[in-house]
Amino acid sequence: MGTDHIGLLKRRALLSASAGAALLGVVRPGPARANQSHRIVAAPGQASLTGPRRRATDVWAYGGSVPGPTLHLRQGEPASIVVENRLDDDTTVHWHGIRLPIGMDGVPGISQPPIRPGESFVYEFTPPDAGTFWYHPHANALQQLGRGLAGALIVEERSPVAVDRELLWTIMDWRLKSDGQIAAGFGNRMEAAMAGRIGNTVTINGVVPPDERVRAGERVRLRLLNAALARIMALRFEGHRPVVVAVDGQPCDPHEPKDGRLLLGPAMRIDIVLDMQGDPGRRYRVVDDYDEDLEYSLVHLAYDAAAPVRPHPLEAPIRLPRNPLPEPDLGAAERRELVLQGGMMGGGGMMGMGRAAWAINGASMTGDGHAGMPPLTTLMLGRSYVLGLRNDTAWPHPIHLHGHSFRVLSRNGVPVPFNQWADTVFVEPRQTVDVAFVADNPGDWMVHCHVTDHQTAGLMAVLRVGKGGKG
Ligand code: C2O
Ligand code: CU
Ligand code: CU
Repeated sequence: MGTDHIGLLKRRALLSASAGAALLGVVRPGPARANQSHRIVAAPGQASLTGPRRRATDVWAYGGSVPGPTLHLRQGEPASIVVENRLDDDTTVHWHGIRLPIGMDGVPGISQPPIRPGESFVYEFTPPDAGTFWYHPHANALQQLGRGLAGALIVEERSPVAVDRELLWTIMDWRLKSDGQIAAGFGNRMEAAMAGRIGNTVTINGVVPPDERVRAGERVRLRLLNAALARIMALRFEGHRPVVVAVDGQPCDPHEPKDGRLLLGPAMRIDIVLDMQGDPGRRYRVVDDYDEDLEYSLVHLAYDAAAPVRPHPLEAPIRLPRNPLPEPDLGAAERRELVLQGGMMGGGGMMGMGRAAWAINGASMTGDGHAGMPPLTTLMLGRSYVLGLRNDTAWPHPIHLHGHSFRVLSRNGVPVPFNQWADTVFVEPRQTVDVAFVADNPGDWMVHCHVTDHQTAGLMAVLRVGKGGKG
């Protein structure tokens, strides 16, 4: 990230001011649009990321669009999704956050053979939880995700949530050259040991966003998905008070985030309810100030000039219905510690780890994972566990566990203030985050940092859930 980063973001801000009036990502709430069978083709394509007047970018796309088509599924009903690979590269699809059988988890060599070019694979699973999830490749992940292969997966609540409208922002981050094409250099070693491949162009639903047009007084459910390779975001809605109703798809106690900032590491999702309490005709910035020195306006909420849709704003918060998550038995839970190690240290040195830049408990699983690599630990099927995620590095890591959602218990021993579940939890440098879950899903499950460069450079391991296991 240097000056060109700032320059491009400025140019982007200019573009967004003039890019016109299209409504972004409007979705009508309700399960009626769910469909349990889908077919997705992964193939090279083109996308107008920076608006119709500029040259299109060569991308890799699901269903010809970036992001891929938003899949809507019904909770608790079997779904079948055919994935056809028309790339020149082996691929798989991982259904991030869905608690599904190991054979459908999309990790090549561990849960399925890779889908070769020209081949297809049928993914079949029954999503147990309603919420905001997503799908992405788990093969050659840096390039495949970085070139555009990602899409949202929404599992509908059984009855519609009482909002006026629903919006989805799938946020992606691109490193574009001045000709609008994706810059080479995926897997740069130096970057991998630092913040990862952060881009210079941020899109919402595949385009540098025009204004999001809203009506005064309306209540909107906004699903936020960070589908970037490495960019961590902290979003602030100027003039508004977003209420968080779900984290990583799982309903939480409705609450306003600390300082009004919504922290979204790569792969994380937050559902908010936004009451549009701004003035008709005005525009309000949505700012990403995770890096305070590089703060930029992601998009503007642009109010229609019309009078508010209701005389008084709605007061009652929305609480989403519970998902059928097994409650961990904290009294009986065994503790396992995962120590995150490596990366560029303050003095410029690195831990001596050979080809890998990162490790968990001294071991580095690199690339997309390896068949036959011994699990870090084995958990007994049906038992409760506390995972202590201890970050001994100088960098933050969004740590993701496959096949399960966990309850977030504490940060550095301080209990988290709200009941919340997640599948990807942000661990600050020198922080220990305790999470708990029931190991109720048998299989070999990846646990990894979702900063993709960190994952592929060693910040990844396998947890085995099986019978008669022992740490
Ligand atoms: Cu979205 Cu293995 O991850
Ligand atoms: Cu996952
Ligand atoms: Cu990381």
